Amino acid sequence: QGLTIGVDVGGTKVAAGVVDGAGTVLHAVRRPTPGHSAPEVADTIAAVVAELTADYEVWAVGIGAAGWIDAERSRVVFAPNLAWRDEPLRDEVAARVGLPVVVENDANAMAWAEYRFGAGRGRRDLVCLTVGTGIGGGLILGGELYRGAFGIGAEAGHMRVVPGGHPCGCGNEGCWEQYASGRALVRLARQIAADDPAAATAMLEASGGDVDGLTGPDVTEAARKGDPAAIRCLMEVGHWLGEGMASLAALLDPDRYVIGGGVSDAGDLLLAPARERFLEAVPGRGHRPVAEVVIAELGSQAGLVGAADLARI
Ligand code: BGC
Ligand code: NA
Ligand code: ZN
Repeated sequence: QGLTIGVDVGGTKVAAGVVDGAGTVLHAVRRPTPGHSAPEVADTIAAVVAELTADYEVWAVGIGAAGWIDAERSRVVFAPNLAWRDEPLRDEVAARVGLPVVVENDANAMAWAEYRFGAGRGRRDLVCLTVGTGIGGGLILGGELYRGAFGIGAEAGHMRVVPGGHPCGCGNEGCWEQYASGRALVRLARQIAADDPAAATAMLEASGGDVDGLTGPDVTEAARKGDPAAIRCLMEVGHWLGEGMASLAALLDPDRYVIGGGVSDAGDLLLAPARERFLEAVPGRGHRPVAEVVIAELGSQAGLVGAADLARI
């Protein structure tokens, strides 16, 4: 089988690792993302690949990137939350590393990893959602990764859930990822801090007292300590998550939803309200089987493990 390298490229960091055929990460490294142009990102990826290939013999590189990837697994077409616009990432990297390279959507890579080695093992129809800054979607349908005709299917975060709602980086308004994401969590928390500072005391404590510096992890930390306002913020985000999952059930009928991404660190504080709303909103409830909703198993390494495995096929 041999070894491959998986690389996970986001807005702030590049994580890479040597992965074997069983999905085991043998060695991992991490760097900050320098700038967002294809040459800058490619330079960083080439540097981590050089570091890893000094000790391991690998035969391909898979890159999972937080954007829309063309059907050839070659270019980053667009990224709603990053500055990428039609970047020839595969060729830029391949020219530097001298190995076969494929580029995949980050959430597709994560879904593949969970299907092969994690919470989706043995399931043939699976929806994976990464709840971070936005929502990433990855679909396993009939045991295969679904990419769509142009490579940019499964962009679940950009389903419209509120006509005329919050503006989104994709150019639309009211996208799901504006309501069920880390960004939504922070928006809700800051709103509470502005309307009723006393209610936000615990969240502000977690952020060091700074409303503008309040982050998703601060909200989760306060919620874990039992803070009612923080729990309410996660509950609202969870309800929106369940709302969208119910629509996806109408279209795809998966038997399992796997929820990953930074906000899923909140565990049941997010998942319990998501499940509750999902069961209230799923079409035909009471007359149909319903899917399970579980937390992803592979954590922050899912993206690179999936990208490494997808580089094999
Ligand atoms: C993008 C997806 C990406 C997701 C998670 C969304 O805004 O449209 O391509 O998978 O964020 O990074
Ligand atoms: Na996707
Ligand atoms: Zn959108």
